Amino acid sequence: MSAEGTPDWVSYLVRAGLHAPSADNSQPWRFVWDGRTLELFMHEERGKGGLGTDHPANLMALGAVIENLAQAASALGMPPDALQTVDATGAGCMARVTCDQPRSEPPGALPAGVQQRHTNRGPFATTALDPELLADVAALQHGPVRVAIITELQQRERWSGLLRQASELRFQTEEIHRWLAGSLRFTPAEVARGDGLDVASLLLPPGGESLLRLSLDWRRMALLNRFGGCKLFALLEAAMLKNCAALVAIIGPPSGIGVEVAAGRLLQRVWIALNEAGVAVHPYFVLPDQLYRLRAGRVAPEFVRKVRRIEAGVGEMLASRAETVLMLLRVGAPRVADPVRSRRLPLERSFSVMVSQ
Ligand SMILES: Cc1cc2nc3c(=O)[nH]c(=O)nc-3n(C[C@H](O)[C@H](O)[C@H](O)COP(=O)(O)O)c2cc1C
Repeated sequence: MSAEGTPDWVSYLVRAGLHAPSADNSQPWRFVWDGRTLELFMHEERGKGGLGTDHPANLMALGAVIENLAQAASALGMPPDALQTVDATGAGCMARVTCDQPRSEPPGALPAGVQQRHTNRGPFATTALDPELLADVAALQHGPVRVAIITELQQRERWSGLLRQASELRFQTEEIHRWLAGSLRFTPAEVARGDGLDVASLLLPPGGESLLRLSLDWRRMALLNRFGGCKLFALLEAAMLKNCAALVAIIGPPSGIGVEVAAGRLLQRVWIALNEAGVAVHPYFVLPDQLYRLRAGRVAPEFVRKVRRIEAGVGEMLASRAETVLMLLRVGAPRVADPVRSRRLPLERSFSVMVSQ
């Protein structure tokens, strides 16, 4: 299997797809070109065998890929129906693109928004953002998923409080801790693999990397927790969430086939729009993750009451139990304009050609 002989338009779409964001840069996707159609699947190991087929983070990442495919297909002048979304459960083919001959030759560069979107975990200015931009972003929606922009200080404090509670539980959950530990890349050789989180992209304050290394071993983290380690880490994470101009919440129904893929598409559109306007974006999944774990019965019995309280708090913030928060973003003018960016795996790890003879 090789990418040789692949039509330019297929390479262009795959390149665009690979720019999508994913939880801890896990890249849970796989593209297959069969000589006529380009298909998108959840990757067996990195997706299905990673967080799992039905995990919202994986489905959102695949949704973001689909959004990139849509924007790249449009840049190629393909008709809107060239891209078809298929199975939103993650089990089978999730999207396919068929095109006999695109109207234009692929331009060298990808759509600028797709190429430039990135995660920024540095400090942001708290200066208010352009109201017109915020109004445009607030008007975006996809299927049952919508956007809420939170600028008011008191509201931001309340979201930060909910995030702190969720984060405190996260640092006491072995499964999540091990997942993060397995994702971090410290040395140049580890970074060169092209997956996971380059610690340089975390923009940690002085001493932060040593503290992170120290806490990576679960037994040590469990010991730190006995002396309030989880409380301290959660406090730091929540304090960072306040360091911004606004919060952006991606909101939708707590369940239903297609909700997370729609959320991923909307997330990507919002992220691109903000980055294009020079506004930095830092996603926080810890709060939606605890709410998902509660719905999926994956919260340890001793924490269930606490997560229910967080869920009730989110319900109050949204003034609705029919919706939940699917992603929370910290946004603002960046103080570090060009942070280290996560790499991507070599093409052959995500793309295969299966042309039948
Ligand atoms: C579903 C999802 C959840 C994420 N959660 C977090 C998070 O909680 N904290 C964080 O710093 N980044 C988070 N990210 C950002 C990813 O780490 C980032 O997209 C990935 O490392 C690739 O980097 P890039 O966005 O710069 O291309 C998340 C991204 C996705 C799609």
